[in-house]
Amino acid sequence: MDKIIVHGGAKLTGSVRISGSKNSALPILAATLLTKEPCVISRVPDLSDIHYMLTILSELGCEVERASGTVTVKAENVLTEAPYDIVRKMRASICVLGPLLGREKEATVSLPGGCVIGDRPIDLHLRGFEALGAAVRFRSGNVKVLAPEIRGATINLRGKFGSTVLGTDNVMMAAVLAEGTTVIDGAAEEPEVEDLANFLIAMGAKIEGAGTRRIIIEGVKELHGAEHDVIPDRIEAGTFLTAAAIIGNDVTITRAEPKHLKAILDPLSQAGFLISTGKDTVTLRSNGTGHPLKLETSPYPGFPTDMQAQMCALLSTVDGISVITENVFPQRFMHVAELKRMGANIELQGATAVINGVGKLSGAPVMASDLRASAALVLAGLKAENSTEINRVYHIDRGYESLDEKLNALGAQIERVKV
Ligand code: EPZ
Repeated sequence: MDKIIVHGGAKLTGSVRISGSKNSALPILAATLLTKEPCVISRVPDLSDIHYMLTILSELGCEVERASGTVTVKAENVLTEAPYDIVRKMRASICVLGPLLGREKEATVSLPGGCVIGDRPIDLHLRGFEALGAAVRFRSGNVKVLAPEIRGATINLRGKFGSTVLGTDNVMMAAVLAEGTTVIDGAAEEPEVEDLANFLIAMGAKIEGAGTRRIIIEGVKELHGAEHDVIPDRIEAGTFLTAAAIIGNDVTITRAEPKHLKAILDPLSQAGFLISTGKDTVTLRSNGTGHPLKLETSPYPGFPTDMQAQMCALLSTVDGISVITENVFPQRFMHVAELKRMGANIELQGATAVINGVGKLSGAPVMASDLRASAALVLAGLKAENSTEINRVYHIDRGYESLDEKLNALGAQIERVKV
């Protein structure tokens, strides 16, 4: 198990290429189960979560080939039960349920267990499948969905915390081969949902309104193979821009999609960082100081929960009182205790973090608990005096492609150490 050591204080300068989106590639790879024909997906990031998804597809009987960032999947014959040993490692495995139900009219997946970022039920996914005519059964830790036929329906997928991203993906993938028309109200509007819909349309699906709260899917008899380029990862992009803000000086992200980043760029410019955008680039200039902010997370197009931890790290070093309220995963504050070990002054009041910016952070041994929390610790380490030792970096490798190498190419001083 690796750990990384961040030697603080080195300014960041230069440009960094943004990888394909993890949260888009995962459901798109699952959607290849919807056809017997080969699908070619490019710009697939090299991440352990992607590796898990490809293993699940192989275990389900697919032929899977990978050549650097391009993956070819041929799902000629498929099984309908995903193996527990892999599924337990990654919650997003749940998104094989929809395509298998759509194609084979049945699917079994182990129920996702606990998650450090908070309660993550799948009731909305199941509500959607039931509306499409499926029966839902729970046994020995598995959920099985089955239906003699899938019939289009009108479904509201809005839950207590708003829309559901993978729930919208799953129901959309089950509905593309249904009899008749499905209307999803309260749909997630994330760019990753729209990217999945664009891939399904390239396979021959009939979908309107993806990227809005109402998605209309007219079922078709069958889908064919297709090629698709995954969109850039907006959370990786936001993480690099926040890294530039926290330590300075001048970083340009390339191969990005600026229009997907508005909810991240607005608060960064409100905090006083200079931002300029090009067709597929964004540059942030910083002298390492900024203004305090009041922020709330919410589903897209709101400020993303997946950027909350990184923003906590930044605002811990900004003079003044900042306030961040987490509305999507109210318990998602595992990074706070570790940032406090580095000298941050943060008080948690329910789902709100009240941050009193400190002049300096100091390096310390800290523990990564989840993907975005670990990115926040890396950012804090860039600013901190001395060195920060981050353990359990496998969390980072789940969602960031060579984060330490990319940061070192911008001037950071990060070592990866085998333990
Ligand atoms: C996706 O998870 C992302 N994962 C998460 O990113 C991201 O944090 C989340 O969307 C929100 O943006 C992937 O795309 C693989 P949700 P998802 O269903 O779809 C509640 C990262 O760091 N809910 O939109 O699982 C749920 O508890 C990861 O890359 C129900 O109540 O999240 C939460 O409070 C972490 N019932 C809210 O909705 C349901 O059936 C939003 O969750 C489903 C969700």
